[in-house]
Amino acid sequence: MESPYDVLGIDADADEDAVVRAYRRRVKDAHPDHGGSLAEFERVRRAYEHITNGRDPSAFEANVGDRRRDGNGPPNDGSSGPRGGDDVRRGSGRSKPDGENADDSAGDDTDERTLGPTVEYLDYEVLEANGWELTDDDLFEKAEAADLDVDRHGLLVVEDRETLLEAAERYGFSWPYACRGGACANCAVAVVEGDVEMPVSTVLTDEMKEQGIRLSCIGQPVTDSLKVVFNIERLPGLAELRLPAEQFESARADD
Ligand code: FES
Repeated sequence: MESPYDVLGIDADADEDAVVRAYRRRVKDAHPDHGGSLAEFERVRRAYEHITNGRDPSAFEANVGDRRRDGNGPPNDGSSGPRGGDDVRRGSGRSKPDGENADDSAGDDTDERTLGPTVEYLDYEVLEANGWELTDDDLFEKAEAADLDVDRHGLLVVEDRETLLEAAERYGFSWPYACRGGACANCAVAVVEGDVEMPVSTVLTDEMKEQGIRLSCIGQPVTDSLKVVFNIERLPGLAELRLPAEQFESARADD
């Protein structure tokens, strides 16, 4: 039986750092854009989630079976996964042309859908710590070479109807937010490559939007790949728009 450790190519007693390093290496190799396949990419992602959520390694295959039966996303403990039982099959909602999936139809249901938009993310704190700028042409190349932890730099896939913030949270990341409705700037990200659309008018100025600033709580990718820097709320101009998260927590509690 395949264990999640086998998928990542590490021993079952690997420590946390080894798991993260293996995941970063494998998820890039497995990505369809880098010569992998959707099925392999999903398998690597599930293996990483399985290990980091502390689930029984022997239950890994059972989770795959559950996904095939109900078409639902990972994992089966309610901690993450796309909303709605058929979201996984639809992926980004964009079907490949007939026959395009022929080479990677190895029997896994995940091959039947199109991979959603892929986001390469980078934590703004890394820029501050290294003296890098958002405008650096080689920003993400430098991040790649720096071998950062997976919560600082990596890849994630946005499912159908998900916002950027929801996708990050599905992966277990704690990106900043407060109102979750476009009324503050706590969740702002800088889109360095690709584009993100926001369905409602927001607190952002036109100048900020022209600079690629978007709100991750309401923003959805409109390009197949993106490069974004998150955690940018301390950027000049954005700090003034921020609102204390506690204000929204108490408002939600009052609902
Ligand atoms: S969390 Fe307030 S605008 Fe996104």
